[in-house]
Amino acid sequence: MIITIDGPAGSGKSTAARMLARRLKIAYLDTGATYRAATLAAIQAGADLRDPAALAQLVGRLEIGLHYRGDDLAVTVGPQDVTREIRLPEVSDKSHYLARAPAVRAVLVDLQRRMGLKLAAEYGGVVSEGRDQGSVVFPQADFKFYLDATPEVRARRRCDQLLADGQQADYQEVLQAILLRDGRDRSRSVAPLIKPPGGVEIDTSGMTIAQVTDELARLVQAARP
Ligand code: C5P
Repeated sequence: MIITIDGPAGSGKSTAARMLARRLKIAYLDTGATYRAATLAAIQAGADLRDPAALAQLVGRLEIGLHYRGDDLAVTVGPQDVTREIRLPEVSDKSHYLARAPAVRAVLVDLQRRMGLKLAAEYGGVVSEGRDQGSVVFPQADFKFYLDATPEVRARRRCDQLLADGQQADYQEVLQAILLRDGRDRSRSVAPLIKPPGGVEIDTSGMTIAQVTDELARLVQAARP
């Protein structure tokens, strides 16, 4: 079983995807982590972020690993553990350079498909979460969800998350960064953030993550034989 959850930052998709996977006893795939790992590697290599060909070459050589231990995800690039660094605001802000490059996406989409299918085979299913999982990576998914929420609610959630991680968070700055990243994710010409064809849209603005997870699980279980 393949379930995709797409949506903008702060829509609740990451936590809901993790909780849904746990509830259904299947695997969870955070595809944003692959873009983040690639972005961090490009920054560390001093690559020209405006040169898509150079980025694609670099990303093609990377060995990105996602390692799931229970609810925890460790991310590696080659031997380097980058779990914490990939969440830094600089990586969020610069990820659009890689996300908009078709040749980079081709490498990462291929990686995500291989990881997703392997996890699905191993665990009987996978919840794959990102921006294009229902539209591009797994268009044949059994269930496709699109989560959204108002920018204000999403900024508040992101602030709470950063503070909980021991990082600094200024609400206005986070809101502006979210609006900027949204605009870029929705307007890029390759694999923009969209509600996938056949996807079920849920506005999570007035919902807790537990309520979102309940609703997703209810929809999946209601449709299963
Ligand atoms: O989901 P997360 O915020 O970790 O994703 C970081 C960035 O990676 C997004 O802003 C987006 O540009 C890119 N991304 C993407 N396609 C995905 C997942 C993430 O373009 N499937």
